[in-house]
Amino acid sequence: MQFTINGQAVEASVDIRTSLLDLLREHLQLSGTKKGCDQGACGACTVLVDGTRINSCLALAVQYQGRDILTIEGLAGDGALHPLQTAFIAHDGFQCGYCTPGQICSAIGMASEWEQGVPSVVTDDLAGPVPHLSHDEVRERMSGNLCRCGAHNGIIAAIRETLVKEAAE
Ligand code: FES
Repeated sequence: MQFTINGQAVEASVDIRTSLLDLLREHLQLSGTKKGCDQGACGACTVLVDGTRINSCLALAVQYQGRDILTIEGLAGDGALHPLQTAFIAHDGFQCGYCTPGQICSAIGMASEWEQGVPSVVTDDLAGPVPHLSHDEVRERMSGNLCRCGAHNGIIAAIRETLVKEAAE
């Protein structure tokens, strides 16, 4: 199978039932993407495909040939951290760090969804303009990514500082 991962063409010979998560971790040694629940409940395995966030544990690798797959390893450019990674450090957005790659990939996908006007369950006016990305909006939109250390407040602060243009309230 042929893939594009973090801008690189990659070839892998794997069983057709291999999940995208297992392809990344077990076959390509891209272990930045984490396996938490392996059943779509925790978000630790979140990666970006053509800019959209997905749970890679629920995705069959074979379906993602020819797509642009971005993992946490591809986020930092030229050795410099992505601004969101820097903000996670500044805001203590992690403790053990296991959920962090998924949180960061998910936040980038979340910001893209918001820019496209996708509402969330806490959006008041579904037919109105793109909602303000309030603290509650970000919390809801990131609710698929669990942090068992309880660093959610730092995570939301880092996301809002970095990705929410109107965050200063
Ligand atoms: Fe994929 Fe938990 S490992 S959602």
